[in-house]
Amino acid sequence: MSDDVSRRNVLFRLGVLVNGAAAALLAVPIVGYLLAPVRRVGGGGYRSWITLGSLSDFPEGETRLATFHNPSRRPWDGQTADIPCWVRHLEGENFQVFAINCAHLGCPVRWFPQSELFLCPCHGGAYYADGSRASGPPPRALFQYTYKVENGQLMIFGGQLPTLADPHASMTDGRPAARRLWAAGRSTPCA
Ligand code: FES
Repeated sequence: MSDDVSRRNVLFRLGVLVNGAAAALLAVPIVGYLLAPVRRVGGGGYRSWITLGSLSDFPEGETRLATFHNPSRRPWDGQTADIPCWVRHLEGENFQVFAINCAHLGCPVRWFPQSELFLCPCHGGAYYADGSRASGPPPRALFQYTYKVENGQLMIFGGQLPTLADPHASMTDGRPAARRLWAAGRSTPCA
C-alpha cells in the first residue's frame, strides 16, 4: 500500500515536472511575440531611420534603384535582407521613395526612363513617374516610404514594406497624402 502511494507520488511529481517544462517551452515564443512591440519601440528595429545613401548618389531629375538592409534581419537571411526601392529625386531635398512591390500582387516593378513608366512584369501593371497608377490591375499607386534628408544623407523610415494598414504608407493617386511633422525638423513627408 505505501509502495503504491509513493509510486503514485513519484509519477505525479514527474507529470508535474514534464508538464511544467512543456508549458515553459510553449511560453517562450508567446512571450517573445507579446514583447516584440516593446522591443521595437525601445530602439532600432524595423521602425528606425535607415540611410539609403548620400544625396550625390541620386542626381536631380532621375529615378534610381537603391537598396537598404532590413534592420530586423537575422544572420541566416542572407541576400533576402537586402531590400530594393526606387528613389526619385525631384529637386533640392524633394524626393519620392517607392516600395519596389507592385500594388497589385507585389511583383517587383521596374523603372523605364525612356517611357517614364514603372512597369510590372507579372500582369502588365503600369505607373507614372510619380508612382500614380497608369493602367492595368493595380488598384492604387505605388507605396511610398517616408523620408528625410539629414547631414547630406537620404533616409527612410522603417524597413518594413508600407501598406494601407501602416500609417507611414502614403499614396500618390491624386489624393493628398497624410502630412506628418517629424521632430527632426528638416524631414519631409512623402507625397
Ligand atoms: S503584380 Fe503587378 S500587375 Fe499584378
